[in-house]
Amino acid sequence: MEFDLREENLSNYKDKFGLHYYSILAHLSSYFDDSVIVDLGTLYGKSAAALAYNKSNTIYTYDIKHQPEAASLFEGEEFRKIKYIISNCIEDNWSGTQETVECKTDKEIFLSSEIIFMDIDPADGNIKGAQESKVLNFLISNNWKGILVCDDIGAEWVDEYRSAEYTTLPIREWWDSINLPKFNVINNYSSPTGTGIICFDNQKVTYTPLSKDEETHIRNKFYQDPANWPHSPTRVPIDRFTDGTFAVEAGHLKGLSGHWESTKIEKVTDNFGIYDNGTTTHQVELDKNGVRVVPKTIIIIKTWAGELRLVEKWGEVRRIHVSRL
Ligand SMILES: C[S@@+](CC[C@H](N)C(=O)[O-])C[C@H]1O[C@@H](n2cnc3c(N)ncnc32)[C@H](O)[C@@H]1O
Repeated sequence: MEFDLREENLSNYKDKFGLHYYSILAHLSSYFDDSVIVDLGTLYGKSAAALAYNKSNTIYTYDIKHQPEAASLFEGEEFRKIKYIISNCIEDNWSGTQETVECKTDKEIFLSSEIIFMDIDPADGNIKGAQESKVLNFLISNNWKGILVCDDIGAEWVDEYRSAEYTTLPIREWWDSINLPKFNVINNYSSPTGTGIICFDNQKVTYTPLSKDEETHIRNKFYQDPANWPHSPTRVPIDRFTDGTFAVEAGHLKGLSGHWESTKIEKVTDNFGIYDNGTTTHQVELDKNGVRVVPKTIIIIKTWAGELRLVEKWGEVRRIHVSRL
C-alpha cells in the first residue's frame, strides 16, 4: 500500500485539523475501512479524534491518566467508535485483559490494528525512547504488518535550542537503529519534534518536502512558542508592559513581542477551576495531604507561535526572566 501524504491530499484536512500531524492522522485513517487503529497516549483526545476521521474504524486509545477533557470529547456521537482505555499500554507484556473493552487483551488489540500512533512521552517531555523501543520490539516479535506512526522522533535543530538534559539524541539514535522501511516526514504537517512512520510490510510513504524558507518558518514557530521556553538552554528575558504586551529584551529571541494576561479564579465547578477570562479552566488536584487544590491565578504568555500557562507566579519557570512592571 502507498500512503500519499502530499500537500494536495493533506490540505483537505487543514481547516479541521490544522497544520499539524492531526491532518496526517486523519488522512491515514481514510486508507482503511472497518479496521482497528490504536492510539498510544490519549491526553486530551485530539490524536484519537483525528484517527477517528473515517467513522467506520474502531479506535483504541490508551493513557495512564484519565483526562476529563478526553472523556467528554468522546461522548460526542461522531466518536462513538473510540474506546478510551486507562492503562499502561506496555505493561505486563500486553497480556492484560481489557474487561471493559470486549474482553480483548492488549495484545489482540495491538496485533489486529492497521495503524498505531505512538505518542507516549513522559510528563516532563523528556523523551529517551525506552517505552518506544519496547513497543517496537513487541510489534516486530509478533510479526505485525501495519504502520507505526511516531511522534517526537527528535531532530538536531531541536537540540540546538534545548538544554542538554532535554536532548533528543537518545530518541534519534533509537530511530536510526530501526532496521525496517521508515520515513522521517518533514512537511507542513509534521511535528516540530519529529514525525516518523515505520512500515512493517513494505508500505510506501510519499510527501511534499519543505523548501528552505518553509523549514525556517517552522523552526521559528518552535523557537518563538513560549511553551518551549521552559526547555530552552538560555533564559528568555521578557519586559512586561501595563498594556498587556511584552517584548523579549535580549538573547536569541531579542525583538520578539507578544501579549500576557493574568486571570483569577472565579469558581470551581465539578472538577475544574473556572477563571475570569471566560476560557481558562484548570483541573482540581490533590495536594500531599489529599486536600483538593486549584490555582488562584493563571498567567498566560502568548506569541504568534503559541502560548504558555504559568500557575500562580511569574517566576515559576526558571528559564523565563520577567522584568517588574
Ligand atoms: C504527548 S501526550 C499525547 C498527546 C496526544 N497523542 C495528542 O496528539 O493529542 C503523551 C501522553 O502519553 C501518556 N503516556 C505516557 N506513557 C504511557 C504509557 N506507558 N501508557 C499509556 N499512556 C502513557 C501520558 O500520560 C500523556 O498523556
